[in-house]
Parts: sequence; structure tokens; C-alpha cells
Amino acid sequence: MPVRVSERLRELEPYVPGRSREEVARRYGFDPDEIVKLGSNENPLGPSPKAVEAARRELERIHEYPEPVAPDDLFDAVLEYLRDPPYPAGKPVEATRENVLIGGDGADEIIDLLTRAYVDPGDPVVIPVPTFTQYEICAKACGAEVRRGRFDPDRDFELDEDSVFEALDGARVVYLCTPNNPTGTTVEERVVRDVAEELRDGVLLLDHAYVEFASEDLTPLALEYDNVLVLRTCSKALGLAGARVGYCVTDPSIVRDLLRIKPVFSLTRPSAAAAAAALRDVDYVRETVELVVKSREFLEDELRKREGVRVFPSEANYVFVDVSGTGMDSSTFTEEMLKRGVIIRDCSNFAGIDPVYVRVSTGTLEDDRRFLEALDDVLESG
Ligand SMILES: Cc1ncc(COP(=O)(O)O)c(C=O)c1O
Repeated sequence: MPVRVSERLRELEPYVPGRSREEVARRYGFDPDEIVKLGSNENPLGPSPKAVEAARRELERIHEYPEPVAPDDLFDAVLEYLRDPPYPAGKPVEATRENVLIGGDGADEIIDLLTRAYVDPGDPVVIPVPTFTQYEICAKACGAEVRRGRFDPDRDFELDEDSVFEALDGARVVYLCTPNNPTGTTVEERVVRDVAEELRDGVLLLDHAYVEFASEDLTPLALEYDNVLVLRTCSKALGLAGARVGYCVTDPSIVRDLLRIKPVFSLTRPSAAAAAAALRDVDYVRETVELVVKSREFLEDELRKREGVRVFPSEANYVFVDVSGTGMDSSTFTEEMLKRGVIIRDCSNFAGIDPVYVRVSTGTLEDDRRFLEALDDVLESG
């Protein structure tokens, strides 16, 4: 007899990650290096060479446990990055070490810690959808009552504020993603402030994983309110998705609560060294943001010229596309692109939307051209 799983997990579907190069290569008979990977919002420039070098040096010491939580040097690098943000909308934040927690399984670790720290079975949480699916997985694993708000499909996926305010009563955590994954839309500062002020006994998790590419940086709110946690990651603009480093800025009391349950050695030595070097490689961050903005404009312009697809304005390193005009659903469309060696993200497993949307990460301009060639081929043969 298999062991009975907990009641809370019975209905839970595991997180569906973007397809890997290896998996697609195996399945469709490509060389992994030939594949264009635009499904996981990674950095198309590859990692900062300074980060690679720092990780390599630290490999010499992997027989020793890492520093608990994170080394001082990485805390310093995060604080410097916050004080002098090297991206267009960056607003300086004078945080101290007490305001920062660094996660060793990326921002995902902090989402998990925050939820476990503040949600008891039956507690309400608010999640406007479609959004990053990890919030709902963590909340349900804690037995939360999930109240879904919405990013409105009839208004280019702008946040429907009322849907959030109506659900706020008694909420322990509100998960607001801006720019939102997968829609690329942002939430206005006024709305964020109103949610923080109305939330009586709960935390607002403001997910800024894509802030480097956006027109507004709301990180300072983390120091203005004692119930706002701004979540950031080294996986996107900093090019370290495989190193698994995320961090947050928030009130020291929240940091202390999260530290009660944080796996103490989850951040490995090479990852911490890579992250500190990447955060200090400001030229690399600037080059990344420049490329993302160029690629995003190029993809948006080109997609607007084509019949059958509809692209939404985005402030992140991806664009969100309605493919219903092709007569295909998103899974069939994604499959057709995979057959042509291009990985994009089928969004049919995101809650709150019809299965007709895909998400396409910005790439190098060569990746973008390969994507458009495959797209044209799919549109012609459809
Ligand atoms: C909105 C959002 N938040 C958090 C994460 C998790 O980031 P990390 O790789 O740091 O765990 C992602 C990853 O795709 C994301 O899209």
C-alpha cells in the first residue's frame, strides 16, 4: 500500500517548468546547441564571465560548509546593488543587512519561507491570476484558502484592483507580481500602497523578479512599510538561473521570522561567489537590459505585423501572446514551434486564462529571427 499523502497535497499539481534544451533535443532529434531557448526568461548573453571566474575559484573550497545563510561579501554586494541600482528605472534603497535575506534556491526559496512562516491551515491568501504558479503551490501546501483576484484579459491583463481589495479581509499573504509573469504587465504604485495599508495582519509579497526591465522600481516601499517584502532574483538580469540565488528586502522582523525556518546551508559556495561578482558587474547588467529592451521592441513590432497572433505590451524580458487567431490552442502551437527547434512557454497550465496564450522570452537578435522564421513557417502551414 502506498503511503497516504497529506490531505493538503492531494489536489496539488506539481510546478511545470519550461522545457530544457536536452529534453527537446532528445525528443525531436536536434543537437542541443541548435535549439533556440525562449521558454524560461533566462539571460541570452550567458553568465557574466566575472561570475563564472568567481564560482570557479570557490570550487577549491567545496569541502567546507558554506557560510550560514550567505557570506558577508554577498550581503555587501546586494546592499551596494540596492544603493546604486544599475538599471534604467532603479531607485536607490539604503537598506541595511537586517533588511535583507538571501535564498539558496533562488527567489523560490523565499516564496516558500514566507508562506510557511505566515500561513496556517485555513488562512486566506490573495493571488491575482494568471501569475507565477509557485505562489499557489506553496500556499496550498500550507493549507491556505486561496482567494484568486485577476489580471483582466479584457483590459490587456491590467490588474483588476477590486478583485484584490474584495479578497483582502483577513488575508495573511498577498502575492503581487510586477512585472507580472506571464503577462508582462505592471501594478501601479498607488495600488501597491493601498494594498499595504489595507492589509491589517498580513504581508504583501511584491515580486520584482523582472524589475531591471521595467519602467518603475517599487523596492523603496519595502523600507516604508513594515508589511511589504520585495522579492528579487539573480536568475534574470544577473544571468544566474542555474546558481539559484534570490534575495528580498523587507522589515527586519520579517527577516527574523524567515530565518527561523530557512535551510541554513542552502546557498552553495560557488553560487554565492558568482552572485556577488554578478551584482558588481554593472556593465553586464546594463548590456543585458539594453539587449532585452531592443529584443522586446523587435518582437512586439514583428508580432504586430502578423495575422493570427496578438501580442500584449510587456515590461519584462518576455512577451505574452494570444495565438487563438491561428486556430490552434497554445499546446498545439507550442508543439509546432518545438518541432522547429524553438522552445517557448505554453501557458495553458497558468490559472485564470483560456488555453490560447504562449510566453516568448527575449533572446539575442539572432534567436529572435530564428523564432520569427519558425513562427512564419507554423503560420503558413496552419
Ligand atoms: C515572477 C517570478 N518570481 C520568482 C521566480 C523564481 O526565481 P528564482 O529562479 O530566483 O527562484 C520566477 C522564475 O521564473 C518568476 O518568474
